[in-house]
Amino acid sequence: MEKLPRPFEKYVPIIEDTLAEIFVDKDDNILEKSMAYSVLSKGKRIRPVLALTTYELCGGRDLKEISKCASGIELIHAYSLIHDDLPAMDNDDFRRGVPTNHKVFGEAIAILAGDSLQTLGIELIANHPEGSSFIRKRMRSLRQVLNAIGRKGMALGQAQDISKKDDEFDEKSLLEMHQLKTGKLLEASIVCGAIWANADSKTLKTLKTFAKPLGISFQLSDDILDEVSTIEKLGKTPGKDKRDNKKTLVSLWGLEKAKVNLENYLSLALRSLAPFGDKAQDLRDIARFIAKRDF
Ligand code: IPE
Ligand code: IPE
Ligand code: MG
Ligand code: MG
Ligand code: MG
Repeated sequence: MEKLPRPFEKYVPIIEDTLAEIFVDKDDNILEKSMAYSVLSKGKRIRPVLALTTYELCGGRDLKEISKCASGIELIHAYSLIHDDLPAMDNDDFRRGVPTNHKVFGEAIAILAGDSLQTLGIELIANHPEGSSFIRKRMRSLRQVLNAIGRKGMALGQAQDISKKDDEFDEKSLLEMHQLKTGKLLEASIVCGAIWANADSKTLKTLKTFAKPLGISFQLSDDILDEVSTIEKLGKTPGKDKRDNKKTLVSLWGLEKAKVNLENYLSLALRSLAPFGDKAQDLRDIARFIAKRDF
């Protein structure tokens, strides 16, 4: 897939500007440098793009209102990548086409950069936009994100990924692990978009039904790419899951069945958007991109 779908063209510049603003003082000290190094490298920005797309789909009209929250989610994602790459976790040397954070700044600073990106992300979601009229929305989105990343979300999924023995994983527990380590933050991004646009509970329910198979599609596609792609395309070392004997849906199903099931999860996600009719074209395009991307 060469060209990014329309929502990326439209929303990524807004996100990049917000992220650049956050790091205007990036040369201040080693911690700022290390944080900025990872955040400002070339990520796809899928999570903030999902938030902004959902916001407009649900009738949101002022993208500035949600740009800090969406960027906060991207900072939290960047934290998860820095820690995921550490020698104690996946021990990766490349990320987003450049050496991993710990390769450049050392492990101690990389850990602290991850810590600080997580708290800065939380701060942005908790504090922006300022003003008492936004308190409820700030708290609702914060709750979504915090639930998605902690001991019942991403951190638990990462712990399972690292520590479970092969024979402890069956299809059900692998799907659950995918949902936790990756799906939950994607879902929170979508839900935050809906919250800021004042979506009703029925709409929220539809979006959550979309987010579940989308999360599986995302990690399934990541695991397939780990097996079939190149470092030039991915910007990270392929073949690592096999090298590290990682139990993934690809190792469980085999490549061909994994690809068929990816199509099935994508169809499920697309079908769940039916209540939105034509209005959800951008979300459909993002879902297709997530499943069919080659990086
Ligand atoms: C990679 O996420 C890590 C996983 C959750 C599988 P992305 O594929 O969104 O990475 P970037 O942000 O584009 O680098
Ligand atoms: C990582 O999954 C999920 C995170 C929460 C960061 P992977 O370990 O498969 O991600 P990559 O392949 O290193 O990007
Ligand atoms: Mg990992
Ligand atoms: Mg990894
Ligand atoms: Mg991977």
